[in-house]
Amino acid sequence: MSGNTLFYGSFVHSVSLTELDYLVDTLVYVSNGAIAWIEKDVDESQLQEAALRHGLNLEDSTASSGFTFMQLDDSDFICPGLIDTHTHAPQYPNLGLGQEYELLDWLQQLTFPREAKFTDSDYAHKVYDEVVKRNLNAGTTTCSYYASQHASSAKVLADVVLRRGQRALVGKCNMNRNCPDYYCEASVESSIQDTQDLISYIRSLSPSTSNGKTESKRPLVQPVITPRFALSCTSELMRSLGDLMKSEPDVHIQTHLSENRTEIKETLRSFPECSSYTEVYERHGMLRDNTILAHCVWLTDEEMDVIRRTDAGISHCPTSNFNLMSGGARVGAMLDKGLKVGLGSDCSGGFALGVLPQLRNASMLSKMLAVQPESINGQSQRTGQFTNKPLPIPTLFYLATVGGAALCKMADTIGNFLPGKEFDALHVTPGRSPNFFLDVGESPPTGLDRNQKRIRLKETFERFLFVSDDRDIASVFVQGKKVGGTRE
Ligand code: GUN
Ligand code: FE
Repeated sequence: MSGNTLFYGSFVHSVSLTELDYLVDTLVYVSNGAIAWIEKDVDESQLQEAALRHGLNLEDSTASSGFTFMQLDDSDFICPGLIDTHTHAPQYPNLGLGQEYELLDWLQQLTFPREAKFTDSDYAHKVYDEVVKRNLNAGTTTCSYYASQHASSAKVLADVVLRRGQRALVGKCNMNRNCPDYYCEASVESSIQDTQDLISYIRSLSPSTSNGKTESKRPLVQPVITPRFALSCTSELMRSLGDLMKSEPDVHIQTHLSENRTEIKETLRSFPECSSYTEVYERHGMLRDNTILAHCVWLTDEEMDVIRRTDAGISHCPTSNFNLMSGGARVGAMLDKGLKVGLGSDCSGGFALGVLPQLRNASMLSKMLAVQPESINGQSQRTGQFTNKPLPIPTLFYLATVGGAALCKMADTIGNFLPGKEFDALHVTPGRSPNFFLDVGESPPTGLDRNQKRIRLKETFERFLFVSDDRDIASVFVQGKKVGGTRE
């Protein structure tokens, strides 16, 4: 479905770090891919009147009259699309493998050998097409992707993302040390050249108007400069990347920070002039308002302050942090310090694609930290609104949507349903997956008042967050266009 659509039914979206809006009996008009207007609390008997106020005649809502009318079933709802702020497209064939390793061995034994295969663009095409399709069906409407180190296959990923209609950042890894000969960039010059080449290529994919501006608010696919992590970049490469970043202030940056304790120790040994891992990136000019820092498990308070000051942000990857035994990130403390935080699947460090498993594990981690913070990362204070407390449901969903949008510097475009934003959304049809157990013993509720409908929606939404899977997502929309979901 594309074009203009008038939806009527239930909607849920995040309006602040601590608040969800549950909208029932609501009209949402999507025009040219963006939300034109919303009217809440409209009785079914008053639909035509409400639509007419906006110049739409429901009795003439055929495609030829310029819009489609879609009334959701009683138990259905629509929520914003989910934002995966950190994942590795070439690692999906490794999902579920490597349970025996921690980070640095896992990279050498499993990850580098797999990524090296992406020198073959045909192989890349087959894998990436499946990755993007599955991510969309899981509800990921925006994704920040690492490709392999090969610019050629990163271009393939950008092509696939654009063809399938996902919103994405796509970057090729920069890496010229601590990796095997068969998977190591030949020189600083070629690494920079390939990065520039990829940036130009991705920019060329977006239609431009005569004045050079893109027609949409921002292109669906954007480049991201991707130094793999400090240990895989020589100082010279980091400096050259820093120069490139300076000349490209609008291009996003992504990297890994403070994930694993051995990694941190090795990094500080490699950069003895720096007193913290965060300082390594700060000194190379990599921390700014469009920088995404994945993991950040072992940050000190001082490092968090540097990230806050530079307006960089954090991708929280709890499944990966559990799976690679990296540790538990202090997300509550980050939020109390006002840092930008989103969620990342970090496949295949994490073994579950999509954002909902990350939300579930972020919740579990916050509960573990609330019980025993000192056993998880040695920090025991319980001050502030979020530090070492269970993350509330509105906060978890904020991280999955508005928080991710802010981290990717797209908060003016996506994340929730404020009029003017683009319509990236999921139409959820609850009850198809085995755990999503609606109360089948109850007869279908009829004649509920709005308050009762809101209470029912709140329960259904909570079940969706914690026990649903792809089968419950009928349609996935990006810019108002259907790009995934189980419904034909
Ligand atoms: N650090 C450097 N590379 C990687 C990677 O591919 N995955 C994770 N989780 N951490 C990394
Ligand atoms: Fe990662």
